[in-house]
Amino acid sequence: MDTRTGAERRTSCATARSLAALLLLAGLASAAQAQSGETQRLRSRALAATCATCHGTDGRAVEGEALIRLAGMPADYTLTQLLAFRTGQRPATIMHQITKGYSQEQLEEVAKYFAAQK
Ligand code: HEC
Repeated sequence: MDTRTGAERRTSCATARSLAALLLLAGLASAAQAQSGETQRLRSRALAATCATCHGTDGRAVEGEALIRLAGMPADYTLTQLLAFRTGQRPATIMHQITKGYSQEQLEEVAKYFAAQK
């Protein structure tokens, strides 16, 4: 038999409700976080898609084609090259023009994206 008073029962019920609300909030927060990670990944991928014509999908150049592979290149290396193209420090036929169209943040983002590809 439940020997608790009505007030005690109401208190434990309120505690259970707060706990449920907390769990719900925690669940929503982690879902939002997962979604923003996915949004970020898609954004980076869209940026990388602008390089696909000449460097292959996700930077994976096709064997035997005259494409330069970017997938798996260290982000530092890629970013250094991109910045060198932009300043004209590294001579190029096209990359000096392309890199001028992107912000520093976008070049960092795309360099990281390609580094994460296998
Ligand atoms: C129209 C074709 C074309 C597009 C589009 C293009 N690239 Fe290039 N990329 C080249 C060529 C050609 C080179 C060799 C350098 C040169 O002559 O410009 C090169 C070289 C590079 C290199 C140096 C690779 C190495 O081994 O040192 C990097 C890094 C690079 N590109 C990144 C990118 C990124 C990032 C994008 C997208 C934002 C991009 N490229 C878009 C044609 C392209």
